[in-house]
Amino acid sequence: MAAPAGDLQRYDAATAHLEPPFAVVDLAALRANAAAMTRRAAGKPIRLASKSVRCRELIGQVLGMDGFRGILAYTLPEALWLAGQGTGDNIVVGYPTADRTALARLAGDPAAAAAITVMVDCPEHLDIIEKAAAGAGQPSPVRVCIDIDAGYRALGGLLRAGARRSPVRTPGDAAALAAAIVARPGLRLAGLMAYEAQIAGIGDNPAGRPLYAMALRYIQRRSGAELAARRAAIVAAVRRVAPLEFVNGGGTGSLEKTSAENAVTEIGAGSGLYQPTLFDGYRAFRGRPAAFFALPVVRRPGPGVVTALGGGYIASGVPDRSRLPSPFLPAGLRLDKQEGAGEVQTPLLGPPADRLRIGDRVWLRHAKAGELCERFGELHLIEENAVVGTVPTYRGEGMNFL
Ligand SMILES: Cc1ncc(COP(=O)(O)O)c(C=O)c1O
Repeated sequence: MAAPAGDLQRYDAATAHLEPPFAVVDLAALRANAAAMTRRAAGKPIRLASKSVRCRELIGQVLGMDGFRGILAYTLPEALWLAGQGTGDNIVVGYPTADRTALARLAGDPAAAAAITVMVDCPEHLDIIEKAAAGAGQPSPVRVCIDIDAGYRALGGLLRAGARRSPVRTPGDAAALAAAIVARPGLRLAGLMAYEAQIAGIGDNPAGRPLYAMALRYIQRRSGAELAARRAAIVAAVRRVAPLEFVNGGGTGSLEKTSAENAVTEIGAGSGLYQPTLFDGYRAFRGRPAAFFALPVVRRPGPGVVTALGGGYIASGVPDRSRLPSPFLPAGLRLDKQEGAGEVQTPLLGPPADRLRIGDRVWLRHAKAGELCERFGELHLIEENAVVGTVPTYRGEGMNFL
């Protein structure tokens, strides 16, 4: 995605006093992305996916913006830390935990137990929570959320799209698990969640792949319709067993679609704030790159190529080219197909290379949002032509949850 003319000069000027490598966040771009996400959610609150931000200061700033309410955390120790720091009092941990120590801490701390909801999808999860809580002396009830399988299946199971998450798939499955929760006095059923990764996390407009795009859109349409009906039936079935405070669904890529479902009360999303490259290929929105990193040019191996120090910050997931960082500024640079982005050096090819000198900097974007923050201890916050603040990432605070 091309940056507006002038951004390179602006970012270079703002950070001239810093030695790369370092990471920055353009606050105006972040605010514009947040506002666009809120518009797309059409009145339904967005629960902020903290894994996609991994910086407490920015989580706090976004929670202060219109349209965002609550945190979707990624581990229970993280949620306990956020609650203990006063960063959140409405936190849903988006993935199940088997961390007995953290569960005992949760049940043993009434304030944390009131603020945090943990994810479950089977009776075994309930057993682990109850056992851990029993060790806490006078345990508070533990709030739980049922995770629903939002994946798509067709052709008798031959075609499968979506993440392998929960075994809870039908209204009957969900109602049975809800009844098992209600029957345990140490647990409180707080909500339901169904995350449709195959729609929310996969761009429907992949560059240069028209046939794949057509197939993808077809499956996403089918999956969206199937899930809307199934999600409504599941919510109705569970509400017959117990009241629900929230029904969470979706993500950055599906804000407008998921929020249109009556059964859904909130969307979980975060990646759209930083707008990493994996979120460039959607027809429904065009975010502004808001988080990126600078590397120093340290070599000029020959015409049309410079070599930057470091840069091999590969994103998680199926390892293909889409997981590599992307040269951003100056526009027109590309990675070397033979070397990619390396542990200690990253060659960059293209006409702008001949204008770069040793000591200049190049800017790159990460493929995913919060994973950038695992590489840097701080984020420099840019407003117009200046760094207006420098804030720690989770890593910078000594926290490495995953
Ligand atoms: C449970 C859940 N909800 C929502 C999201 C969407 O988050 P984001 O918008 O940051 O991609 C994810 C992403 O993996 C998720 O796992």
